[in-house]
Amino acid sequence: MTSWARTRSFFPVTRDWIYLDHAGVAPISTRVEEALRRYADLASCDGATDYAAYEAEVARVRSRAALLIGAAPEEIAFVKNTTEGLGIVACGLDWRRGDIVLTCDLEYPSNVTPWWGLRARGVETVILPSQDGRLPIERVEGALGNPRVRLLALSSVEFGNGARNDLEMLGRLCRDRGVLFCVDAIQSLGCLCLDVERANIDFLAADGHKWLLSVEGCGIFFCARRMLEKLAPRIVGWHNVAEPTHFDRYQTELRRDAQRFEEGTRNTAGIFALGAAIDLLLELELQAVEKRVLMLTEHLAEGLRARGATLLSPRGDAASGIVSFRMGDIPPARSIERLRARHIHCVARRGGVRASPHFYIDTAEIDALLESL
Ligand SMILES: Cc1ncc(COP(=O)(O)O)c(C=O)c1O
Repeated sequence: MTSWARTRSFFPVTRDWIYLDHAGVAPISTRVEEALRRYADLASCDGATDYAAYEAEVARVRSRAALLIGAAPEEIAFVKNTTEGLGIVACGLDWRRGDIVLTCDLEYPSNVTPWWGLRARGVETVILPSQDGRLPIERVEGALGNPRVRLLALSSVEFGNGARNDLEMLGRLCRDRGVLFCVDAIQSLGCLCLDVERANIDFLAADGHKWLLSVEGCGIFFCARRMLEKLAPRIVGWHNVAEPTHFDRYQTELRRDAQRFEEGTRNTAGIFALGAAIDLLLELELQAVEKRVLMLTEHLAEGLRARGATLLSPRGDAASGIVSFRMGDIPPARSIERLRARHIHCVARRGGVRASPHFYIDTAEIDALLESL
């Protein structure tokens, strides 16, 4: 069994802060710090004299990322952020005039604007309204009845109030209607379990800097094998062609695996960091991490209810790593300031104070937050 107290020593941030913003930008662990140092040592002492050493690590991290979501390494591309992954889908599908993309009003802008950008190509984006902080599944089911719907674009967990969407149920509905399913997983990957096959996901994107506990600017994009050749890369470069190291022969034939979306040199330092972050999560086991995070957020939700706070996050089967709330009519920005003065880091989002603890936070820290309110 994991000793969660022991995991605190991997996070130097705990010395000075009660860090409750893993839904924003997370701190990195000493494991990630060491991986970055390893990269820096290699780069500064040996340059690219042994480039195969970098490539071996990139291949290893690709396999680890695949394992994390139940995919094959051939289905994983490294991207610079979630937005890029969603953009690859928006730019790469063979849209027909009249196609509809479904999304919802709880989504972060990066899962609305790329679809809106397709307006000029005759694609309509329908933003389904939420109800009581959740997107009712019947609303999706009803909307999927329209044969023009081509793609459903949703987050695994909504960024503002943390509502967790039932991906397996949504994926089943999409499969039954022949609709593509694209998931923005940045608010759950690293703290909640997810299996792309079981959820029938066609595309998924997540950057590393939130729940994965890595650095900014290096994330993963998953494209299901069945869709690889149906999604055209928006950029054709030297690196995503069939034989990228044949430098003296220009080519147009593309790679057949997900590296067809990596058109040029990758963020190798970021991949080293991401690898160490994923290793830690796999070592702790994602199921145990999920249980721990849900325990922490339930502890917080209960404490908030007991103090008469307004809870903006749906709980029960929609619970996630995010708890959003208001204390009476105190503006969230004031609550944030008050917490910050006590070295408790939360942020204000969508009208609430958003707290998002990861596994290494302990219940005493949650109690400190509650007492500070
Ligand atoms: C749900 C969601 N999607 C996307 C993003 C943006 O991610 P990126 O900067 O990796 O594109 C965020 C950032 O907060 C988010 O919460």
